[in-house]
Amino acid sequence: PHISHLCVVDFLWLTSSRLTFECGQYVRSIPCVHLHTTGASMGATLEDFNRAKDQLGTLKKDPGNEVKLKIYALFKQATQGPCNTSKPGMLDFVNKAKWDAWKSLGSVSQDEARQQYVDLISSLLAAEGPAVAASPTGGAKAYETLIVTTEDGIATIRLNRPQKKNAITLEMYNELMDALDVAGKDDSVITVITGSGNYYCSGNDLNNFTKIPEGGVDKMAKDAGDLLLRYVKAYIDFPKPLIAVVNGPAVGISVTVLGLFDVVYATESATFHTPFSQLGQSPEGCSSYTFPTIMGPAKAAEVLLFNKKLTATQACELGLVTEVFPDSSFQSEVWTRLKAYAKLPPKSLALSKQLIRGVEKDQLHAVNVTEVERLKERWVSDECMQAIMSFFQGKSKL
Ligand code: COA
Repeated sequence: PHISHLCVVDFLWLTSSRLTFECGQYVRSIPCVHLHTTGASMGATLEDFNRAKDQLGTLKKDPGNEVKLKIYALFKQATQGPCNTSKPGMLDFVNKAKWDAWKSLGSVSQDEARQQYVDLISSLLAAEGPAVAASPTGGAKAYETLIVTTEDGIATIRLNRPQKKNAITLEMYNELMDALDVAGKDDSVITVITGSGNYYCSGNDLNNFTKIPEGGVDKMAKDAGDLLLRYVKAYIDFPKPLIAVVNGPAVGISVTVLGLFDVVYATESATFHTPFSQLGQSPEGCSSYTFPTIMGPAKAAEVLLFNKKLTATQACELGLVTEVFPDSSFQSEVWTRLKAYAKLPPKSLALSKQLIRGVEKDQLHAVNVTEVERLKERWVSDECMQAIMSFFQGKSKL
């Protein structure tokens, strides 16, 4: 029988963690007096040992098969002493590898094995850097408008203002840039953006236009332009595969930046709407370039000029969406798939993405600059002011 390398690695990791836990119960039942030693190299207490055992679960990086076997072996040696169980059969690969690792420790004492276990875990934690080691939540950063998690190699950035349909406030723009920056640099393999509640995102929070700073509307437009430029740049330069999990309707800038994602999965009832002319505005997120490239100019014109709202199926037919899933199975099907993607070799994925996107990167940056310039003019125009006022007076809804 053939067992893939990946399966063996995962199985070993899971099994060693489980055994660690099971054996942990055993360790707790050993009277403390046996565990305190005074030898220079045998100072690990029961407390140290249990702490190391708990810390094992917070490791973000897979330490590799060899190290996992070492951890397993030291644990067994520390809690049960030298290996005296019978040797598993040659075809029982996993148990044979574990048995070999344990047996290789020979007559190392339980105290010594405990110390080596503690040292090994702390060196693995130290190699991951202080942020991860110090954080009880495994390095996840707290945001006001987002929920950001990193699990199974997937950094998930969830827009979290469901009562406002995940409209993007100035704070959310800044937090999104920060979260993308972190995800681009951390150990995650792929990054996902999705929404909380029944909307993916209702676009720019129109309140952003009503907070007029001291310098007046011109200053407001300049600040908003600077922010937008940096925001879109974060997508253009994002170094790893970026995936949108569109869980409901998407509006405005949450749609336009989709042309900068690598994969877009949508639930059946999602819609895609860019009502720029209705709001006296103009396209952003590089959509004035990406949409005609993806859909062809004739189709893009209906969407970008004439506010045509696309169904998920239409957006898929036009190439903006990768695949549409039934509402009932959307979450389970998509996340199963993403978990499998996140097991692919990270460097290969990132480099391949950069090859695909690198060709047009300069062009995208140039488009971003031009779009932002045009919008700065639009935001101070009568057409735009009127449209925003009528939204807040309840006269216009999309
Ligand atoms: N900016 C500011 N507030 C927004 C918003 C946005 N983009 N989208 C939704 N909200 C707020 C609503 O004002 C409402 O606030 P309230 O509960 O304090 O009254 C709340 O979110 C819920 O939205 P509501 O309008 O009641 O839900 P709905 O299902 O009837 O309609 C939308 C949802 C998205 C169709 C509608 O809110 C809308 O048209 N929003 C504006 C979208 C827009 O123009 N975006 C900019 C594109 S460039």
